[in-house]
Amino acid sequence: MEKIMIQGGRPLHGTVQISGAKNSAVALVPAAILAETTVVLENLPVISDVETYSEILVELGGDVSWDGNTMHIDPSRMISIPMHNGLVKKLRASYYLMGALLGRFGEATIGMPGGCSFEPRPIDQHIKGFEALGATVTNDHGSIHIYAKELRGAKVYLDVASVGATINIMLAATRAKGITTIENAAKEPEIIDVATLLNAMGAKIKGAGTGTIRIEGVDGLHGCRHSIIPDRIQAGTYMIAAAATRGNLLVDNIIPKHMEALTAKLEEMGVEILESGESLRVIGKADYEPIDVKALIYPGFATDLQSPMASLLTQASGVSMLTDYVYSNRFKYVPELMRMGAKIRVEGRSAIIERSKLHAATVKAADLRAGAALVIGGLLVEDGVTEVLGVEFIDRGYDNLVSNLTMLGAEIWRE
Ligand code: EPU
Repeated sequence: MEKIMIQGGRPLHGTVQISGAKNSAVALVPAAILAETTVVLENLPVISDVETYSEILVELGGDVSWDGNTMHIDPSRMISIPMHNGLVKKLRASYYLMGALLGRFGEATIGMPGGCSFEPRPIDQHIKGFEALGATVTNDHGSIHIYAKELRGAKVYLDVASVGATINIMLAATRAKGITTIENAAKEPEIIDVATLLNAMGAKIKGAGTGTIRIEGVDGLHGCRHSIIPDRIQAGTYMIAAAATRGNLLVDNIIPKHMEALTAKLEEMGVEILESGESLRVIGKADYEPIDVKALIYPGFATDLQSPMASLLTQASGVSMLTDYVYSNRFKYVPELMRMGAKIRVEGRSAIIERSKLHAATVKAADLRAGAALVIGGLLVEDGVTEVLGVEFIDRGYDNLVSNLTMLGAEIWRE
């Protein structure tokens, strides 16, 4: 079993280049299914979730090739075969196959998605959207079977502003007859990225990034070339790591606007942040103020940065509070950080975090962002070597994490 080993106590220095966004990539790759000709996606992150998705497309009859970080997808010979198990169980975002296959072929059978299971993650809003478009959704031996003779545009109101449901409904609605409006749509930057790709493929989508998205269905979609937005969660993870280790780090190739909620909270703690073009410089301080953080839907503080932030808050001089309003119990990492000496108490949706000195331990990541929290914890330990297990979760979403951190001065290696 692979593990990440960390001899901490070294501040991060230098420049880190941020790769393309995982949560865009895992939607853009299946979106290519909707085209009749080749889609070229540039700036993809090198992570296992993208690798798994490319294998899924091949299983469906797609022709996939790589040229550096660019993926060429020829979907012309694809067919909609049932995918009950196997690859679809490896990642959560396999749910996007539902919208994409439904849009192109009028039918999809997909096993319930796998991926990070830090709490039950229902997909009722996705299904509600498909049904509104005229599809019949049934349970086929534990998989979801979706069928529509013809998709018709409809008005869909989402009970929760779900990222996945917004994108999935948008995918299917591009090929529906007439106009679909999604109300209470999620506003995350990844949604704008998917709409930009779909529009370049010939779709007619307006309003992505606002609470109301309007999609006028078209008869067919074609190939195009698209470059993926930078990964704001990877960027945020490095920013937090730089602050925690009292480093001085330039986080480059990002969209600083996407980082505003995190930047504001780091500044409130006393971290110095300098913006310049497509980068942010993070300058750590010896001491930090305790703060309250509320994880919300975008443009609020990202829930995906909630766990890494907990490690940083152990360094503030007082009691901080971290509340997650997106997921009710995304705190599986807390007992692991506590093994390292973190003083954290979970009460309902909140973690109450006191200043703590972390020490070396063997800890296990149970999901992707938990892994990031534990690695940051390890970077803070001055006495001994921290062992982080569950590396396969970290590889799902962090592009070259160990080599990047090594380049930035950390003593970290895989074993
Ligand atoms: N929800 C429902 N019903 C639904 C869909 C969602 O009740 O049909 C609830 C969820 O249980 C949750 C909230 O709505 O409480 C938000 O979930 P959302 O659907 O927005 O999440 P998601 O699309 O499944 C994406 C990211 C997550 C990220 C969330 C929130 C991908 C592949 N995943 O998940 O990323 O936490 O949005 O921003 O885009 C990660 O990268 O580590 C990760 C988990």
